[in-house]
Order: sequence, then C-alpha cells, then structure tokens
Amino acid sequence: MRLRNVRGASKIIEQSDYIIKNYKDLKGNYKSIFNNNNPIHIEIGMGKGNFIIGMALKYPDINFIGIEKYDSVIVRAIEKLDIEIPNLKLIRMDALEIEEVFNKEIDTIYLNFSDPWPKNRHEHRRLTSEAFLKRYDNVFKGSKHIVMKTDNRKLFEYSIISLTDYGYKIKNISLDMYNDDIKDNVQTEYEKKFHDKGMPIYKIEVFK
Ligand SMILES: C[S@@+](CC[C@H](N)C(=O)[O-])C[C@H]1O[C@@H](n2cnc3c(N)ncnc32)[C@H](O)[C@@H]1O
Repeated sequence: MRLRNVRGASKIIEQSDYIIKNYKDLKGNYKSIFNNNNPIHIEIGMGKGNFIIGMALKYPDINFIGIEKYDSVIVRAIEKLDIEIPNLKLIRMDALEIEEVFNKEIDTIYLNFSDPWPKNRHEHRRLTSEAFLKRYDNVFKGSKHIVMKTDNRKLFEYSIISLTDYGYKIKNISLDMYNDDIKDNVQTEYEKKFHDKGMPIYKIEVFK
C-alpha cells in the first residue's frame, strides 16, 4: 500500500505530537512517554491506522504504538487524529530496525494484513519469518504474544509453521473469523475491504 507523493506529508509528520521522532533514543524507556506502567502493544505495518486508533480508544489502560514504513501512508492516520488519545503514539520506521528501538518492553505485537512477499527469495521480508521472529525476541518484555490477521491463505499457512517451529504455542486460531466469535474485533482497512468482498479472514494468536 504505497501512496505516492502525498503533498506535505513530511511536514505533517514532523509537526504531529503523535509521532515519536527520537524513537531510537527511547529504547528501553518507552513507558516514560506514556507516564505510566501500563502494558505496551505495537502494530507493525499499521497502514492508515484504523486498527491502532480503534484499539487505543477501546482499551485506555493499554498503551499502543503503531509502526509504519511509509510517510505517504502514516500521514493518513495522522489526519484522522483530531482528538487527543493519550495512550497512542506512532513511529515512522522500517520494522527491520525494531531491535534498535525497543528493549524488553513490549507485551503484544499485532501483524494485520502484512505484505505476503510470495516469492521464496523474499521470505526473509515476511513479518512472521524466522528472521523477524528473532528480532522480536529482545523486544518483548516477558512472555511473547503475537496476534495476526490476514486474508492471505498462503501467508497464513507459512506463518503457522514459522511461528510453531520457533516455539510459539497457538492460543486461538480461526480460518474464518467472521463466522466465529469476533465480539472484541477491531477492524483494519484491509480487513474491511476483503470482508466486504466476502473473503474469509484468518486469525491466529500465539504465545511463548
Ligand atoms: C497491506 S498493508 C496493511 C495495512 C493495515 N495493517 C491494514 O490491515 O489495513 C501493509 C502495511 O505494512 C507496511 N509495512 C510493510 N512492511 C513494513 C515494515 N518492514 N516496517 C513497517 N511497515 C511495513 C506497509 O507500508 C503497509 O502500509
């Protein structure tokens, strides 16, 4: 989802109080930006922000940080934020850098409709590849908790194998979320698009 040439995006990002600019300086000390000891959950690849904003509003006692690689996408989330949400922050960065940003302070990672990178030679770019699971190890505070939703069956199958090979245990799994119990679901932009087309949404929640 790369929107090109959003006019003034970098200026809007620079001026937003939601954006953490010195994100590497805060490594190990993220609770200081929220001024509390509440759990911190992150979404990698937050896109235009519907999920992370919805979660922050729904769960005020959890701190949320949305991570997105592209200015042109994260700016769309900032544009939605015309109210103050104290438990929400955003970082414009590539998740490849995640070990340089967090140190033993994250409770949950959400991966929603992540890019599937279908070619074998791009496997290391998938956010559930062993390469990324290794990066997440030092990011988590204690027990590790990942929640993933996707429309992509191949990525889902790959992720089940990758996560369980890496030692994660499955807590919940659904092959068709909207036909199962989804009472606490917060929809993402991609989820809405695929669900509206009648496609099944896959979900897995794992811990270690
Ligand atoms: C298919 S979109 C899904 C967006 C949103 N999570 C949703 O469900 O609507 C994937 C998003 O992940 C972002 N992304 C992909 N790889 C990333 C990475 N390595 N670091 C940060 N963001 C990434 C992309 O820029 C894109 O906005």
